[in-house]
Amino acid sequence: MPKVLWCPSHPRCLRDGWAFPKAVRQVIVSECEDMSILHLFGGKADFGIRMDLDPSTRPHVIGDAWLPPFKRDSFDCVVLDPPYVGEFRAMSTDRLRCLFGAAAWIARRRVIWFHTVWVESPARCTREKSWLVRVGRHCQTRCLQFWKVPTADRKLPPPAQFKSGPGMKYNRWLRQPQGLPFGPRDEQTDGGQGPVQAKLEEKDT
Ligand SMILES: C[S@@+](CC[C@H](N)C(=O)[O-])C[C@H]1O[C@@H](n2cnc3c(N)ncnc32)[C@H](O)[C@@H]1O
Repeated sequence: MPKVLWCPSHPRCLRDGWAFPKAVRQVIVSECEDMSILHLFGGKADFGIRMDLDPSTRPHVIGDAWLPPFKRDSFDCVVLDPPYVGEFRAMSTDRLRCLFGAAAWIARRRVIWFHTVWVESPARCTREKSWLVRVGRHCQTRCLQFWKVPTADRKLPPPAQFKSGPGMKYNRWLRQPQGLPFGPRDEQTDGGQGPVQAKLEEKDT
């Protein structure tokens, strides 16, 4: 059964409405203390590597969570904190499968989900801990769910082609004979790094 996480109400003007509430941030950071973390919807999170579609958030990587440019097992933990509006408001099974498939592909150990939608066994992941989160006055309740990723042989590979959803726009590149370099890590050709990972490490040194 999920626990309840009670976040105090904050005056709206003090912070970005969509940022992690303090208590949620605390749970994630303390439960993932020894892990490398990638956010696929990074926003302005102040821990881990942030990918975001919006350059104004000044992410480490500009990219789209429907097709994130990382190889298999690149980080210990991948965090999914999508918007609650637009294409992310209603989460069809196909869309959840796509987001979780991509996150579980990249994560060695754990995927974290934070959203208004409660999720059940997506993309072969198994549920670990979970919380129902009260984020403030008159707000929709959020779900904070931790997932264990499947073993490498059971992970869903990145799509060869999207059949529906926002990822369809990438089909023209996926169809190229050379494909895109987001497959399994290959120690022989690139030391296990994908192109984005290599750039991030280059920046660190
Ligand atoms: C709920 S906010 C994440 C907030 C973050 N956890 C924080 O504490 O600041 C969602 C973020 O997803 C980004 N976003 C929206 N669509 C996206 C997409 N398709 N791929 C990647 N990021 C996206 C938005 O720009 C926004 O910064």
